Amino acid sequence: MDLYEYQARDLFEKYEVPVLPGIVADTPEEAKAAAEKLGGVVVVKAQVKTGGRGKAGGVKVAKNPDEAYEAAKAILGLDIKGHVVKRVMVAGGARIAKEFYFSVLLDRANRSYLSLASVEGGMEIEQLAVEKPEALARVEVDPLVGIDEAKALEIAKAANFDDELAPKVADVFVKLFKVYKGEDATLVEVNPLIQSEDGEIIALDGKVTLDENAEFRHASHALLEDKAAADPLEAKAKANDLNYVKLDGEVGIIGNGAGLVMSTLDVVAYAGESHGGVKPANFLDIGGGASAEVMAAGLDVILGDPQVKSVFVNVFGGITACDAVAKGIVGALAELGPTASKPLVVRLDGNRVEEGRKILRDADHPLVTLAATMDEGAHKAAELANA
Ligand SMILES: Nc1ncnc2c1ncn2[C@@H]1O[C@H](COP(=O)(O)OP(=O)(O)O)[C@@H](O)[C@H]1O
Ligand SMILES: [Mg+2]
Repeated sequence: MDLYEYQARDLFEKYEVPVLPGIVADTPEEAKAAAEKLGGVVVVKAQVKTGGRGKAGGVKVAKNPDEAYEAAKAILGLDIKGHVVKRVMVAGGARIAKEFYFSVLLDRANRSYLSLASVEGGMEIEQLAVEKPEALARVEVDPLVGIDEAKALEIAKAANFDDELAPKVADVFVKLFKVYKGEDATLVEVNPLIQSEDGEIIALDGKVTLDENAEFRHASHALLEDKAAADPLEAKAKANDLNYVKLDGEVGIIGNGAGLVMSTLDVVAYAGESHGGVKPANFLDIGGGASAEVMAAGLDVILGDPQVKSVFVNVFGGITACDAVAKGIVGALAELGPTASKPLVVRLDGNRVEEGRKILRDADHPLVTLAATMDEGAHKAAELANA
């Protein structure tokens, strides 16, 4: 889960990383009040889960509360790379002398942690990595040791911080690693980390990704989730413990087992090429127990997607046999009633396949078409989506 900048700022503060005060605001009036409270020059910043806000006009300096009002008015509603701004943070204004870059992240390929740092911050890091790779230090961090004082100094030296700055930034690196470790993050990034005109080191921007697998250790993380911003279908799927990812196409997909669902996506995308270019609308793995309830919940989610024109149910019966799955489909259609209004192509194979097919034939539901093979089912579903 990615956090908003203001949430990262709050976490930083908890671990004594130096940050500037920040107050969130959902309206220009609130932004004005926040600026009054903070006093002096403030910076109004779009709160969206994407970078490059500065360049997109999502970060504006305001010298007084009236300017903060105007800045918030301009920023709220702005579309930044497909993210519409609903909230801003009014932050204290820093007088920047120098901008640096620091991050620590999970390095999956090397089964380790990696820290990146540079004396050239501010610029987007991807751009720096391409244009001036020598200016970006990459230092492996032993997960069992973490970033202690010695490691932090090593990182600072590798990034070419001078002897005066190195210990100062190293102190902040140690604290940022405490955030990373203490919150079970997979990324903590500060761009820019700055030195102010009075010599202070401050984290001016923060990007934190939390590891959802560690949620059980952090009850407070649930509060950080922005339920309103989550896709409503994904939220519904999550509430039903379904493994669902919304995609862009027209053919809804339900399968059992991640591998089978992945191949179904490929086969449908391929079949779609000969049917007007239709594509899979989602990934949905109903897992092992394809009961009527799970099937109903899955169908309910998929049929709730207005982009879906047809659904392909591709199930290989194993421990849960095909007859149970077929009963699940019939039961789900009965349960959903008129909400189920889109054609369904069903391909069953595996354990007790004949019994399963017989149940579907006997039910003779007007929306259901049986397919003998995965290819046939994919073509049929694509054809129906394109009709
Ligand atoms: N509180 C602040 N005070 C002064 N300048 C700021 C402040 N926050 C951001 N800036 C300036 O705006 C730039 C972009 O802001 P940042 O928070 O990094 O957003 P993004 O990375 O999304 O563009 C920073 O590099 C910095 O120069
Ligand atoms: Mg930034």
